Amino acid sequence: MKLKIAVLGGDGVGPEVTAEAVRVLRAIANVNGYEFQFTEAEVGGVAIRKHGSPLPEKTLHTCLESDAVLLGAVGHPEFDSMPRDKKPETGLLALRQALGGFANLRPVQAYAALSDSSPIKQELVFGADVMIVRELLGGLYFGEPRGIKDDTATNTMSYSRYEIERVAHIAFQQARNRRKKVTSVDKANVLECSQLWRLVVTEVAKQYSDVKLEHAYVDSFAMRLIQAPTAFDVVLTENLFGDILSDEAAVIGGSLGLLASATIGGEVDLYEPVHGSAPDIAGKGIANPVGAINSVAMLLRHTAKLEQDARLIESAVNAVLLDGYRTKDLVPSARKFNTTAEVGSAIERQCADMAISH
Ligand code: NAD
Ligand code: IPM
Ligand code: MN
Repeated sequence: MKLKIAVLGGDGVGPEVTAEAVRVLRAIANVNGYEFQFTEAEVGGVAIRKHGSPLPEKTLHTCLESDAVLLGAVGHPEFDSMPRDKKPETGLLALRQALGGFANLRPVQAYAALSDSSPIKQELVFGADVMIVRELLGGLYFGEPRGIKDDTATNTMSYSRYEIERVAHIAFQQARNRRKKVTSVDKANVLECSQLWRLVVTEVAKQYSDVKLEHAYVDSFAMRLIQAPTAFDVVLTENLFGDILSDEAAVIGGSLGLLASATIGGEVDLYEPVHGSAPDIAGKGIANPVGAINSVAMLLRHTAKLEQDARLIESAVNAVLLDGYRTKDLVPSARKFNTTAEVGSAIERQCADMAISH
């Protein structure tokens, strides 16, 4: 197995967590004799400072030449008031567009080992396992016209039948391999985009008679997701709703730092933790690397089709959490916690041990 992986650490905690994910991939490659070739490139604020652009040509080229891209995070407060083309986030959005992946899979689970980390009552989160399928290339993020003119700002939400259909298929396919239920989340009582969304999703559902479809309005769904997370299996939604709901869902597991994502359906798959650059903890070596590590498990699953190795990483994460390893986000009031590197190397060791004993 040969794989070319572009590694874009980005800003803040991005490079700290991607280093741990790469370390885990190297361990898997060593044990199995796979050839994973890693090429580092710059994106976001670091790229603006060095090259004047959040997505330099060279970075884009490296990504397009790779089998998969692993990205940490972008963003820094110093760019907050810059024009759009000088913002780190613009580089990430341009990269997503160039790679073409339209379906962003964001799994959320309640780890048994972390039942104390979620502020939600244990009996409510116990067993929760939700797959958010977020449409990633449409909606308000990319709609035209957009901009600020005089005292008026404009963004446009627009969705075509084609854009809805293709992401709906991914959600139903996911559900087929899970608990066979899709909850499509929209705002069809107000927005035309959501009315078309509901219509098209209902049509696509006819091709998946083994999967149950329900529709929900985003406002009350946001409440139900926290009130009864085990009621949901696959959650299908548009770009901005998916962005917001996935950070909300992080509360189920106990930390945003745990959440991984895979963006599939395009030319090159993109893997990134759900969290951002976390400027408040950057440079301290205390970020949770599990989101990034779980993202490379998804890389092995979706790009490399190495399901066993993907599961091995996920089991190693589970084992290390059961062993009591905790970054600060999981034990906010404790005085003792593990560093990013301690958690990363524990997962690396666990992967190597489990792979050898197989
Ligand atoms: P954030 O996700 O960076 O941080 C939110 C909170 O979660 C912070 O308290 C942070 O310390 C904590 N957190 C995040 N990741 C963590 C981890 N791995 N371990 C432990 N704690 C973690 O969101 P924000 O503060 O709203 O945004 C900061 C910057 O990140 C902004 O510039 C934003 O645009 C950018 N951002 C980038 C991405 C991305 O690159 N994919 C995603 C979200 C936000
Ligand atoms: C995410 C982030 C990005 C998004 C930003 C940084 C562009 O919040 O990946 O969730 O909104 O998609
Ligand atoms: Mn987000």
